Amino acid sequence: MSQEFLAQHPRVPLAHTPTPLEYLPRLTEYLKGPSIYLKRDDCTGLATGGNKTRKLEFLLGDALEQGCDTLVTVGGLQSNHARQTAAAAARAGLHCELLLQEVSGAPEGNYDYNGNLLLNDLMGARVHRYPADAFMHEELASYVEELKGRGRKPYAVPLGGSSPIGALGYVVAVQELLQQCVTIGITPAQIVLATGSAGTQAGLLAGLAAARSEVRVIGINVSTTTAAQERKVRSLLHETCALLGVEPPADTAIICNDDYYKPSYGVPNAQMVQAVRLLAEKEGLLLDPVYTGKAMAGMLDLVDSGEIADDSTTVFLHTGGSAGLFAYPREL
Ligand SMILES: Cc1ncc(COP(=O)(O)O)c(C=O)c1O
Repeated sequence: MSQEFLAQHPRVPLAHTPTPLEYLPRLTEYLKGPSIYLKRDDCTGLATGGNKTRKLEFLLGDALEQGCDTLVTVGGLQSNHARQTAAAAARAGLHCELLLQEVSGAPEGNYDYNGNLLLNDLMGARVHRYPADAFMHEELASYVEELKGRGRKPYAVPLGGSSPIGALGYVVAVQELLQQCVTIGITPAQIVLATGSAGTQAGLLAGLAAARSEVRVIGINVSTTTAAQERKVRSLLHETCALLGVEPPADTAIICNDDYYKPSYGVPNAQMVQAVRLLAEKEGLLLDPVYTGKAMAGMLDLVDSGEIADDSTTVFLHTGGSAGLFAYPREL
């Protein structure tokens, strides 16, 4: 991969980087095993931060280069991605239209107006609500056509910002992380993260392949089975590697785990609540109920089972989402 390719790709600076790489002494002591570090991508700085800021740097760059005046995207009602898209649009002076879908089994009350929905409203995004069984891919395509008919120039940001262009954000992020590991003198055996629309995991794997790094990446699924998630990651990883001109890693590098997301996307489970409370109490850190809470529950269990070795160093990628806590007060 040429660094020039990344440097020349249209990109709008949005994120506060490098995000910190922090040692978690109290969690490490509590686990009595591997050393745990947190890569603080919850601190990217854009309207409560999160992983989508890095993707949006490249997606917004692409939108502006195409002369677009509106960002349109899709997600669940409490989508962090949608909130980050609203913030990026506001920052660039663009309109923002959010097509948000009900989530089956999600709580009632605050979920319908607080958390990310409140922030979308503050940032001037227009929210359109859809039932849980709507086909959002088709809704997005048809709404884009409708906007064009009204003389607007929409840019369709895919679900989760997960296109090869969006994934470039995590190619850059992993270069940043590897440099930080050198600086502080650690050699992580694995990076653990929540994986949903797959752009973060695909971008990390593409960046690691480009750097010829052997660090294991463990994706904890938030919405689907291992086979389905691995297919999603693989396809986006191959497209991202093609864009970068990098040889994709072997399929064995793609690790997804579906043991921790049930009963379903956005619906709490007891291990998630425990993990959110543990990190808050032990480290003063805020996870979220949909992604990082379930991913942390997975990491804790993999430490417990020995899958993450006691003598290893682990980086947990904190992908943000704490605004979502305010949608789940009773469940937490
Ligand atoms: C807080 C948080 N973590 C993780 C993810 C998953 O990232 P990706 O969709 O790139 O797999 C998301 C996606 O919306 C998110 O909001």
